[in-house]
Amino acid sequence: MSLHVTVLPGDGIGPEVTDAALRVLAAVCEAENIGLRTETRHFGGAAIDATGEPLPEETKEACLSADAVLLGAVGGPKWDEAAKSGAPRPEKGLLGIRSAMGLFANLRPSRLFAGLENASPLRPERVAGTDILVVRELTGGVYFGAKEEGTDRATDLMPYSREEVERVARVAFEAAKGRRGRLTSVDKANVLATSRLWRSVIEDLSGDYPEVTVDHVLVDAMAMHLVTHPADFDVVVTENLFGDILSDELSAVVGSIGLAASASLGEPGRPGLYEPIHGSAPDIAGRGIANPAGSILSVALLLRHSAGQEAAASHIERAVSAVLEQGLRTADLGGSASTEAFTEAVLEALTAS
Ligand code: NAD
Ligand code: IPM
Ligand code: MN
Repeated sequence: MSLHVTVLPGDGIGPEVTDAALRVLAAVCEAENIGLRTETRHFGGAAIDATGEPLPEETKEACLSADAVLLGAVGGPKWDEAAKSGAPRPEKGLLGIRSAMGLFANLRPSRLFAGLENASPLRPERVAGTDILVVRELTGGVYFGAKEEGTDRATDLMPYSREEVERVARVAFEAAKGRRGRLTSVDKANVLATSRLWRSVIEDLSGDYPEVTVDHVLVDAMAMHLVTHPADFDVVVTENLFGDILSDELSAVVGSIGLAASASLGEPGRPGLYEPIHGSAPDIAGRGIANPAGSILSVALLLRHSAGQEAAASHIERAVSAVLEQGLRTADLGGSASTEAFTEAVLEALTAS
C-alpha cells in the first residue's frame, strides 16, 4: 500500500507539532510496509508571506490530488494586524481548503486518557469515563453565509439546507451505531430557524437508525452538561460554530486542547484532512514546548479514515496513551517535557509494543 500526504504546516506551533506527527507517521509506515510520499506546501500566514494569499492555487491542487492532508495551524498577531489594513487573513485559507475539499464532517474525539484524571479541571469522579465524539458540521452555517461588514453595522448570515444537515447527520448516526448507540443533537431550536430545520432533519433520519437513541439538547444547556456529567454522552452532532466552541470546551475537560485531534471528511473516496483542533498558539510558538499529541493522534485518524490502516492507527493511539500513562507531560498538562522529548517517547513506545 502507498500513501500520498500533502502537508500544510502553517504558522506558530503548526510546523512544530506537524514535524513531530510526521516523524511518527514515517515510523509507523515503515513498520507496516506502507510506502509514504509527502509534499509540503505553503498555507495560512506563511503562504501570505510567500505568495500574498493564504491558500495559493498550487497548495489547493496538491491537497485535492493527495490521499490525505495533514495540517498544523494557521494565524497569528502579525496577520491579525495586517488584516486591519485590508490584507487577507490566514483563517480564510483554512475555510477555503475545507470548502474546496468538500469536508462537511469534522470528527473531534475527546476521551480521558488513563493517568490524566488529575489534569482535568473537573473532579476525577466527574470526568472518569468521558469518551465523546463531536461531529461538527464544517462547510456551512455562519462561517460560510453572506457577510456585510461596515464600520457601524455588520451581518453574518447562517444558512443551512436540508441536504447539508442530512449528510453530516448520517455520519453522526453511523458513528453512534458503531459506538454506544447514543446520539445527542445540539441546537438552539428555541431561537434559531436553522436549528428548527436541523432538529426536524435529525428526527426524520432517526427512523433509519432504530439502534441509535436520539436526544436534542439546547446548546447553552449542553455547555453546562459537558462540565457537570460529560461521561453520559457518546456522539454529539451539531452545526459549525456550536461544534467549534463545544469541542474546545470538551478538550479542556479531558485535560488539554493540546491532546485533541480531528478528521475532516467529505464524500467517501475523497481525500480527508487531519489537524489538531488547537490554533497556532502564538504565546508558546518557537519554544519547543507545544504538546504534539493532538497532531500525532490526527495522524492516527488519517491512517484509519484515509488509508484503512486500523492496526497502524490504534498502534499510534496506544503509544500516546502509554506515554501519558507513564507520566510524561508537556507544559499544558502541568509537566516540563519538550515537544521533542514527548515525540521521542512516543516513537519509543511504538517500537516497544
Ligand atoms: P490556540 O488554540 O492557538 O491557543 C489557546 C491556548 O491553548 C494558548 O494558551 C496556547 O498556548 C494553548 N495551546 C494550544 N495548543 C497547544 C499545544 N499543542 N500545546 C500546548 N498548549 C497549546 O487559540 P488562540 O490563542 O485563540 O488562537 C491563536 C491563533 O490560532 C489565532 O490566529 C486563531 O485564529 C488561530 N487558530 C487556528 C486554528 C487552526 O488553524 N485550525 C484553530 C484555532 C485557532
Ligand atoms: C478550528 C478553528 C477555526 C474554526 C478558525 C481558525 C477559522 O477555530 O479549526 O477550530 O473556527 O473552525
Ligand atoms: Mn476552533
